[in-house]
Amino acid sequence: TVTKKLLVLPGDGIGPEVMNEVARVVAWMSRARGISFDISEDLVGGASLAVHGVPIRDEVIQAAKAADAVLFGSVGDPKWASVGFDRRPEVAILKLRQELGLFANLRPAKVFDALVDASTLKPDVVAGLDIMIVRETVGGIYFGEPRGIETLPDGTKRGINTEVYTTAEIERVARVAFDLARQRGNRVCSVEKCNVMESGLLWKEVVTDLHARDYPDVELSHMLADNCAMQLVRNPRQFDVIVTGNLFGDLLSDLASMLTGSLGMLPSATLGTVDATGKRPALYEPIHGSAPDIAGKGLANPLAQILSFSMLLRYSFGMDAEAELIETAVSNVLASGLRTADIMSPGMAQVGTAVMGEAVVRELDKLNG
Ligand code: NAD
Ligand code: IPM
Ligand code: MN
Repeated sequence: TVTKKLLVLPGDGIGPEVMNEVARVVAWMSRARGISFDISEDLVGGASLAVHGVPIRDEVIQAAKAADAVLFGSVGDPKWASVGFDRRPEVAILKLRQELGLFANLRPAKVFDALVDASTLKPDVVAGLDIMIVRETVGGIYFGEPRGIETLPDGTKRGINTEVYTTAEIERVARVAFDLARQRGNRVCSVEKCNVMESGLLWKEVVTDLHARDYPDVELSHMLADNCAMQLVRNPRQFDVIVTGNLFGDLLSDLASMLTGSLGMLPSATLGTVDATGKRPALYEPIHGSAPDIAGKGLANPLAQILSFSMLLRYSFGMDAEAELIETAVSNVLASGLRTADIMSPGMAQVGTAVMGEAVVRELDKLNG
């Protein structure tokens, strides 16, 4: 068997707490399924700032490039709220996406049967939901120039960010969405604000052209982003794959997470372009942040992080059977009534981060016979 090189970056807040639980699952995969991992770990975010004075070191970027896949926790800590913008903990994830060219962020919102009551929406609205949000992650208003804060002659200030998308940037992420749709419900909804923004108008044109040229078999629709937010709450099952830009994708995926019961349930995969050696750079992380309000209390839901590892096995290593094993284990643990606080409902058994992680591993043992 070929050894798989994993770089593990737990980060801040609940990042290390939920990563501890993934470590159990990774160890289980080596033990029970004979997968050989070469794992290294490093500091990012506030944890790196505290030790190295920067949110991420160049050698960590290099290690990420050299790894077969990166498993990322979350970054952000109110302690660093007053450092310069280019030194904030969040720079770690933004830089990793940029430097590795991780342009396509796959954020699946899937409702586990046992959790239909966990959403704040009615069970009949969310039952059976399985949508995939494909968020562009290296362009748009997050990175467009000019940007900054300027002081005006009268002493007041002006904050500037610019939404920029090129044909090539739109096309490559739309391709990912169309390819995914072909393996699912065969429908793509492209989301922008072409009624107000030129970058949105170009987005719509490029997606429409690409569709006509290379994906006429996939059903394509277009939706304005504000309407999409409303439609996701009104009738989320109308969607299959949603493809959208960086900022809208960030907002819509946090919204979609609540359809599944909690932000603590949503994993993600961020993929780049296949290189000359056939390797595709990839980073896996939950969509939630470092959750400073519950950090250090052992309350965090580790399932988004565990499911991110399942996506890693599927998308980076083609280990679909192992990925499914994790998803089934999670599903069975939820069916058994265990709940972290964020997905708790009456009659269920509330547990902390570690008990949830241990339960997933115990279930893996059972499933593996
Ligand atoms: P957050 O996602 O950290 O938390 C939002 C709410 O969801 C909080 O109430 C939190 O307790 C809850 N929550 C999140 N994950 C949970 C889990 N696994 N289990 C249970 N509850 C969970 O968002 P925020 O509070 O707006 O941001 C906190 C920090 O995290 C900020 O510094 C932000 O920049 C950063 N952040 C980082 C990432 C990342 O590293 N990819 C993503 C989002 C936010
Ligand atoms: C996410 C986060 C990040 C983003 C932050 C931490 C930079 O919110 O991954 O969703 O906005 O992309
Ligand atoms: Mn976000």
